[in-house]
This record gives sequence, structure tokens and C-alpha cells, in this order.
Amino acid sequence: MKFNITLAALLLFLNLSAQKNDYKVNSPDGNIKVSFNLNASGEPYCFIYHKDSKVIDTSYMSFDLKDAPSLSKDFKVADVQSSSFNETWEMPWGEQLKVVNNYNELELNLQETSNFKRKITIVYRVFNDGIGFRYEFPKQENLHEVVITDENTEFALTGDHTAFWIPGDWDIYEHLYNTSKVSKINATTLRDNPNLGKHSYIPENAVVTPVTMKTDNGLYLSFHEAALIDYAGMTLKVDTINFKLSSELVGSDITGYKVKRVTPFNTPWRTILITEKATELIDSKMILNLNEPNKLEDVSWFKPTKYTGIWWEMHLGKNSWDMASGIHGATTQNAKDKIDFSAKNGIGAMLVEGWNTGWEHWIGFEDREGVFDFVTPYSDYDLDEVVRYGKRKGVSIVMHHETSAAPRTYEKQLDTAYALMKKYDMHVVKSGYVGKIIPKGEYHHGQWMVNHYNNAAIKAADYQIAVNAHEPIKATGLRRTYPNIISREGLRGQEFNAWASDGGNPPEHLPIVAFTRMLAGPIDFTPGIFDIKFDKYKPNNQVNTTLAQQLALYVVIYSPIQMVPDLAENYENQPGFQFIRDVVTDWKKTEVLNGEIGDFVTIAREDRNSDNWFLGSITDENARDLDIDLNFLEEGAKYSATIYEDGKNAHWDKNPTSLNIRKFEVTKNDTLKLKLAAGGGAAISFMKNK
Ligand code: NOJ
Ligand code: CA
Repeated sequence: MKFNITLAALLLFLNLSAQKNDYKVNSPDGNIKVSFNLNASGEPYCFIYHKDSKVIDTSYMSFDLKDAPSLSKDFKVADVQSSSFNETWEMPWGEQLKVVNNYNELELNLQETSNFKRKITIVYRVFNDGIGFRYEFPKQENLHEVVITDENTEFALTGDHTAFWIPGDWDIYEHLYNTSKVSKINATTLRDNPNLGKHSYIPENAVVTPVTMKTDNGLYLSFHEAALIDYAGMTLKVDTINFKLSSELVGSDITGYKVKRVTPFNTPWRTILITEKATELIDSKMILNLNEPNKLEDVSWFKPTKYTGIWWEMHLGKNSWDMASGIHGATTQNAKDKIDFSAKNGIGAMLVEGWNTGWEHWIGFEDREGVFDFVTPYSDYDLDEVVRYGKRKGVSIVMHHETSAAPRTYEKQLDTAYALMKKYDMHVVKSGYVGKIIPKGEYHHGQWMVNHYNNAAIKAADYQIAVNAHEPIKATGLRRTYPNIISREGLRGQEFNAWASDGGNPPEHLPIVAFTRMLAGPIDFTPGIFDIKFDKYKPNNQVNTTLAQQLALYVVIYSPIQMVPDLAENYENQPGFQFIRDVVTDWKKTEVLNGEIGDFVTIAREDRNSDNWFLGSITDENARDLDIDLNFLEEGAKYSATIYEDGKNAHWDKNPTSLNIRKFEVTKNDTLKLKLAAGGGAAISFMKNK
């Protein structure tokens, strides 16, 4: 009898506590499901299914606020709305022309039953390849200025997945990727990386997003965020015992809080890609779709392009940014030579670093405020003449603004700097943020800098300038809204191969990047180094891939600007250089043909302005054979294919420059056998026969 009473009491309790059935929303194809509810204390939580198996277990969400009670409990669902959306939009330039944006939405309007009756709305958008959700803070009486000291968004994993991660650094993303079980993530052991000097700050055992995982059941998950606007960047803190991730926003030592906003406002979207194949991660356009449509309208003043530069030679130590060194790189003559080389090879642009005064006083100096003015050239660099010469040869000059992480100086100079560019008809700036942010206590990825990066790009658009930021905030799909945010660094780029003390980027680096960093957006990686060992300049450094892989990267890594960085003399008389001449930087379609994270990936892309296709395939330190089905080619058409493949004994270290070139005719019914050397690759051009 006693048992029965207890049972009855329990049933009554369950009935009261499970407010009502879960609120549910499915992806358009029904494979991904989100269930949302409030527990007995009115705390919101959700879980997520993929084809009836849980991929995210009970995960709570709340906010801690300064001088106000947390927004965490005593909620009721005041109102619910669901809707569906399906559109196809066009990218002004990109990996493809048309993007399908199809999702089901669930909007939950929550209100506190006690306290101040504050309101918060949670919006889920469920796509066929993942989900995004965000918090919306409506305008309301008892919540005006919101000072967030912590956002607590949980992602409870359902197992000890294999994760591909870099540490949750508040200042820099230029880390090597680690591959480990979630239970073995140990980000804080990666502090004091000698290659990052003082520019790295890893306060917690957290990871940066996108962080990608493979489950034991072979499912792929990638966690990131979309539309990071007026908010702090999110790292994910790792609970290695319970396999739980939770948001850890980048903070500020100056303010002591993470985010300050005034209602109404929305947080960025918290996103999870959920796919059955690794290749589908790269196919996904969900991050872009979660951003607002193009606000700039006509952006035809920017054209995707390859570009050379006075750049790699500085990283090799052949010459330098600063004039006092006596080996100044940015001279009028050097620029003219580069323009000639670009014009001869159909390369539309050329970057000049170290052109403006101030480089004697940047890296290593604390007082960098006011050092660069972005308008005064060194005396051996005639900006007028270089621009004029470039125009005559059809080569535009890419401007360089190294802020040396003194963003207040930069903000004061922005209008003058951009006006100078406008005067010279320059439409691309590469900006840089090397060093600790001044004022000290702000971090590259905190709210203050997020606003700086975004506002600089928005202002640039007023001057018809496209931005390629280095040491940037991560990409979160804002290029949809502001297409002039064309590319960025935000990873360990090629430059590390020139000088890192740890041997440079290992062969697995880019096969991981393709499934992690590249999911965020375009990358200015600067592929195409032909002198792989550069012993003349740096006997202890080298690129850790074959030459064929350097070519393949022009297709594998997407960016509407792709550098052709090596010294002109290293491209002279190199048959492989023809691929760089031919390859384009703007695409109609992209097909990810195969791939596994950290192992290999093959991508084919169709030129937006012709019917030609280009293919790139790269592998890690393991040689492999891949069969490539050419059925992406057009029905009935014939193509002249040129393959640039690893030579018979090619090897990233022992024999990196051995390159074999073959030409043959193909149709879509053919299958190609690719043989990739260790650290190798293959690049193919398919020119459609007229
Ligand atoms: C770091 C950038 O990543 C690199 O490309 C540039 O050359 C230097 N900063 C100097 O601005
Ligand atoms: Ca860098």
C-alpha cells in the first residue's frame, strides 16, 4: 500500500513538473529533431536527435548578469510559434552561385513567473544538415541594459567523440590542430606556445569553434556560431568527464563582463552541423544562411582575383618591412617587377607590405599607438608611380594596413586611410592585428574587438573596399550580409612554414583545416610555394607538402582572393605554374567528392565564368590511391584534362618537387585513378572542348 501511495505521489509530481509535452521541431527532411522543454524549476533545456538517436542530450541554457539575478529559472512558455522557410539566393562570388536556404523554425517566448517577469525568446532553425538557435532579448520594462557576465549554453555530447580542435585562445587562432577524444582535450597545456609569443591567452580548458567531431557511430558534428555581431566570440569549455561543452564567452579585463547590450537585441546563432558524411560538412551553407541577406547591394566593384605580393620574401628574410633594416622590400622597383610578373601571367592584383613608415617600431614594442598612419610611404616607395604603373599593366594594388593591434589608432585613421585608397582606385585591403591588443586587457575575440572588425569592414564598404583581415575575429557567415568581407586568415597559414620553430604545418594540417576552420568561411592561406625547401634562406624550415599539393590547394581552400606568393624566379620555367595561370577564384558549383577529417579531401569546382572545371585533392602524411568519378562534368561534353600529380617517388620531405604532368581527354563517364604521395596531392584542369 505504501508503495502505491509513493507511486501515486510520484505520478502526480511528474504530471505537474513535465509542464506539457515537449515542444518539437524537425528538419525539412525529418532527419534532425529538436525537443525543447522546461524542467520543474522552469529551467529551459533541449535535446537533439538525428534519425531517432540522440546526438545532444539534455542541455540547459541560461545567462548570468551583472547586478541582476540570472536568467535561468522560473520560466513559463508564454507563446510558441512555428514556421517554415525556403528560398534560393545568389552569392555575388563564392563557392557556388545558388544557395538553398530551407529550414523549419520554432520560436519559444519565455517569461519568468517570479522575479521581474523578464522575457527571453529562444529561436530554433532546423536545416537538413544541422541546427542553429539564438536568444532574442525583446524590449521590456524590467530588462533594458543587459550586462552578461556569462552565457551558459550547454551541449551535452552522447559519447566520448573524436574531436579536431585548437585551444580556446582569446587572442589568436594560429594553433596546430589536435586530434583526441573529448575526454583527452587539454587546451591549457598548449599555453606558452613559443611561436605565438605573448599573443596567446588560453584561460580555460576550452576549444575554439568551429570544432568538429566524429562519433563512434560515424556521425559528424561541428559546433560553431553564426552572425557574430556586437557580442563576444564564443569558445566552448570542455567537461572531460561528462563530455559536455558549454559556452565560454571571451571577456575583457577592463570591463570585467563579457557583453553589454541594450534590449532589444539578439545573440549570435549557436550552431551544430550534423552530417553522415564528412564531405557534407563542407557542402553545408547553414552558417551563411543564418546571416541576413546582402546589405551592400551592388558590389561589382570587387572582382575575385589571384594576387602576387611583396610578402613571402619578407617571411623568408630575403628583405624586410622596415627601411632601417637596409633591406627594405617595398621599393618602387621591386613593386614594378612584381607588377610585370603579374601582368605576364594574368594575375590581376599585387600586395605591397612594408610600404608605409613605422615598421621600425611595431612587433615587440608596447607603445604602438600612433606609429602607423596608413598614408605616409617610405621614401624609396613612390605610391603614385606604383599605382600608375599597375594601372597601365592591368594590375591593381592590394593595400596593406598593419594595425599592430592598436585599433584605436586605426579607427582614428580609417577615413583618411580608406580615402587614400579610393583616390587610387584600390578596392582590397589586407589588414593585420599582430600583437596584444592596446588597450591592454581587451582581447582579439572579445565584444569590443568584434565591433572593431565589423565596423571597419562596414566603413570600408562605403569606400568600395573589400577586407582581408589577418589576426581577425573568426568568420561566422557575415560575408552574406557584407560581401566585402572577402577573406581572412584566422588559422596557422603558410607563413608558419617560413619561420615556425616547431617544423611548420605538418601534412595533416590542411586535411583538418578543410573540415574545421574552412567551415567558417574563406581563408587567405597563401598556397603555391614552389621552392618547397627554400634552403637558400631558411635551411631549417620548409613547406611540408609536395609541389602537387601546393597546386591542389587553389581548389581545395576556398577564397575569392588567392595569393601566388613565391618569388617570381621560383615560378620561371616551371611547367606546373600553368595550373596557377589557369585556375580561377570564383565558382558556379562545388562538389566535394571524398574526404575524411585529417586524412584527405578532394573537391571539384566549376568556373563561374566558363564551363571549365578544376579539381584539387590533398592527403596527409599517408600516400593513397583514390578513384574519382567524373560524373560532375556536363553530359555529352568532352574536356581536355591536364593533371598535375605527384611524381613516382614524390614525398613531402624526401622528394617534394617531383611533379608529373599528363594531358588527356575525358567525359563524365570516365573514372580517374589518383595516386597521392605522402603529403601529396593532385590538381586537374578540365577545359571544355568548344
Ligand atoms: C601577420 C600576417 O599574417 C602576415 O601575412 C603579415 O605579413 C604580417 N602580419 C605583417 O603584417
Ligand atoms: Ca598571422
